[in-house]
Order: sequence, then structure tokens, then C-alpha cells
Amino acid sequence: MNAGKSLAPKSSEPQKQPQLQVGSAAYEKQPGMIGSVLFKLLSRLYFLQDLLGRVVAGTTPILVHNLGKYLALKKAFYLTFLEQVDGDYLEFGVFTGSSMSCAMQCAATAVVSEPGKTGFFGFDSFAGFGDLSDEDKHPFFTNLNFKTSYSDVNRRLQKKARKNQTVRLIEGFFSDTCDGHSPESYGIGRARVILIDCDTLSGALSCLKFCSSVIQEGTVLILDDFFSYKGHQEKGVFGAFRQWNAVDGHLKFRQVASYGMGGVILIAHA
Ligand SMILES: C[S@@+](CC[C@H](N)C(=O)[O-])C[C@H]1O[C@@H](n2cnc3c(N)ncnc32)[C@H](O)[C@@H]1O
Repeated sequence: MNAGKSLAPKSSEPQKQPQLQVGSAAYEKQPGMIGSVLFKLLSRLYFLQDLLGRVVAGTTPILVHNLGKYLALKKAFYLTFLEQVDGDYLEFGVFTGSSMSCAMQCAATAVVSEPGKTGFFGFDSFAGFGDLSDEDKHPFFTNLNFKTSYSDVNRRLQKKARKNQTVRLIEGFFSDTCDGHSPESYGIGRARVILIDCDTLSGALSCLKFCSSVIQEGTVLILDDFFSYKGHQEKGVFGAFRQWNAVDGHLKFRQVASYGMGGVILIAHA
């Protein structure tokens, strides 16, 4: 024991750092040096870089985008779970039901209060976009690419529903099912998570206007294809969001994240 004796050098004495020999094992172990050695090594492993590049380039963008969309849904249900934002899930543009099925699974693992409180409502024509105006015309968003069957999708989703989950699909063009209708008329209460995945300005605008009255503080709004139409400010989902937000100015949103090939996650705040 060195009771009473301090082993620390006196503050007036300069503290000498041991000099490390460059290239020595001790030198390489210094913090930061390991990273730089690894960097040097990796920067010479061309085959590894090429392999990584090939895997990324070879993965279909649709897969990357959908994976991003599923993770966005997971994030939305988790955030609303943490903040105890109760309410329904609304999806506009259901197509084959894959994102809706994912939403139902995410909700099952992030129950806000009592199970079954989140109802699942999906809107789609199940016949594509219908007649598009010149403004909405797009090389990929065509009826041919998005024809499905209401009964097949409904069967799929009803099968997927957990004991306490209710699913309702509303078939028809948004101009018929949303314009002039209230969410209450379909049994929709407050919205917990909304996914707008219908690509065009006219479609998205109908859906956003329809949702205005059920968006609450903490509702997560996922907008797919936010940067389509070459980023045009007055077209596509972004154009619809701007137009709607200018009118329904009482709703404020912050961006949580972006995902996939051009989707965004927003949260409504006070
Ligand atoms: C990109 S897909 C939806 C993909 C789906 N959310 C998923 O991830 O599996 C777009 C869907 O929106 C629907 N849709 C687009 N415009 C519509 C409109 N004006 N009225 C009704 N449905 C529409 C199409 O029928 C199509 O099924």
C-alpha cells in the first residue's frame, strides 16, 4: 500500500509520451491506425468491390423499393406504437395486397393498446388508373401494369388477418369512393398510419383530401413515388401533397425518412 503517497506525476513535470516506431505492431494498434490499414487493404481488393457492385446492381430495383416500403411500414407502426397513436391503417393503392399484408404483420407486433384496435382499410379500383389526363400520363403508370382482382386480393388479406384484425377493401376509382365521401361512412376512425401508393396527382389528391379529417397528431403518412414525373413540383404525388397542404394548412408534417426508390415517411405534428 502506498498510503498517503500519490503516484501521479507532479503537474509541473512534463509528461513524456513513449515514441512508437512506425510499422511496429504497437504502432499499428493505435486507435485509427487499424481503420486506415483496413482501408488500404480493402481499397486493393478489387474483386471484393466488384462483387459488391455486382450484387447491388443486379438486385432488381422493385425488390429494393418494396423492401424499403416494408421497412417504412415497420417504422410507422413502431413509432405510432411508442407514441401510443391509436387508430386505423388506410392504404390507397392496394394492388396485389403485398404492402397491406406487411402492414397487418407489422401492426400485430406493435399493438398500441388493446389488440384489434387498428382496422385495415384498402382502397383500389383493382383495374389500374382508369383514364388519365395528360398531366397524369406516365410511361410506367399504365393500366396494363396494375390490373388485379378484388376477390383474389380480398381472399389473400382475409386469410392473413389475425384474430383481432378487421380488413375491409373498398373497390372503385378514388373519384367514386373518396371524392364526396367521409371516412366515417366506411367506419374509419382516426388514422394511425396512411400509405398513399397510387402514383398520380389526381388519385393522390382525392385520397389526401379524403384523409384530412382523420389525421391526428402523430399519424404517420407514407407517400410512395414522391419524386416521380422527373421531380416536377406540380405533378404526381408530390404535386398532390403540395396542392393539398396549401389548402389544408392546419396540418403540419415533418419528414421522418425516405425509403426505396423515392418514397418518403412523414409525421403529422401539432
Ligand atoms: C403501385 S400499385 C400499389 C402497390 C401496393 N401498395 C403494394 O406495395 O403492393 C398502385 C395501385 O393504385 C391503384 N390506383 C391508381 N390510381 C387509382 C385510382 N384513381 N383509383 C383507384 N385505384 C387506383 C392501381 O389500381 C394499383 O393497384
